[in-house]
Amino acid sequence: MKIIDFRSDTITKPTEEMRKAMYLAEVGDDVYEEDPTVKKLEEIGANLVGKEDALFVPSGTMGNQLALLAHTERGQEIILEEKSHIFMFEVGGLAFISGLQSKTIKGHKGIMCASDIERAIRVNNIHFPQTGLICLENTHNMAGGVITPIELMRKVYEIGLNYKIPIHLDGARVFNAAVGLGVDVKEITKYSDSVMFCLSKGLCAPVGSLLAGDKKFIEKARKYRKMLGGGMRQAGIIAAAGIVALENMIDRLEEDHYNNRLLAEKLININGIQIDMDTVQTNILMIDIVNKNYNADTVISLLKENGIYVSKISDYKIRFVTHMYISKEDILYTAKIMKDILE
Ligand SMILES: Cc1ncc(COP(=O)(O)O)c(C=O)c1O
Repeated sequence: MKIIDFRSDTITKPTEEMRKAMYLAEVGDDVYEEDPTVKKLEEIGANLVGKEDALFVPSGTMGNQLALLAHTERGQEIILEEKSHIFMFEVGGLAFISGLQSKTIKGHKGIMCASDIERAIRVNNIHFPQTGLICLENTHNMAGGVITPIELMRKVYEIGLNYKIPIHLDGARVFNAAVGLGVDVKEITKYSDSVMFCLSKGLCAPVGSLLAGDKKFIEKARKYRKMLGGGMRQAGIIAAAGIVALENMIDRLEEDHYNNRLLAEKLININGIQIDMDTVQTNILMIDIVNKNYNADTVISLLKENGIYVSKISDYKIRFVTHMYISKEDILYTAKIMKDILE
């Protein structure tokens, strides 16, 4: 049976071109900063997002955690959205690794209000921790791939400048945001001091993310990466796939967005499914099961019997993620199966 795997864009495997590039990659010891392919990837990544420097890291989680370590001091508080990846899914690393306390803000469809952020900044008082960092996530995973408006990013960046608080952008899928808005990614990343973006999600590289920022910040992050065991040696082998990801895989995200929208438009017509179409902006689709006879578990197992894999978000919520290995035919087949199940 053919498997149609909507669980995540992280399941994408490297393309033929990536495999060839990996085979041919020139390598060296990257801890000695002697791997030419890693250096090239870091340079391409930094230029793309308009930052001075970048650091290749094994995962998005490590990139985010290094950003927290490099921007903050122990005992500080950081502001972040209550369903953000850094708060929800990084194993409490912000407290455990960086010794930080979190001030979460409830966003509207994942997007925090600038005035809520400003209000959350601590005033100078002997009893209070100091606010050390503001984190944004664009696109927002748990909100369903929602794009943070550029105007909001600008406002938050200005708040950061006024209060001398850096802004870190969890841009795991920032290229989806750029493609979704039809802008150069720099139009987004210029409103953050640092940005982490993943090569191994919709861009199909097998491993790795980049953390970008100014030279001093990256120097600090490089040292912390070594401390956390993320100093990789002949990492050019995997960086080579990352270069292909950045050079050739960004524009095609448009296709994933098209397929995601098509899926939403098909599913919304099925009785027992609710979708907030406002959130259908990039490659993630959240659907609510509102048919009393079903819940996420039952729908997921019926889909699985038909070769369709999806993720459970809560008892009645399911997530679909489109990516390079999901075709328009897969979308039409999935919509048909969903209709058969629920109607
Ligand atoms: C928004 C966001 N940030 C960070 C990450 C972490 O990336 P990784 O799985 O490479 O650690 C993810 C992964 O899904 C994510 O969705």
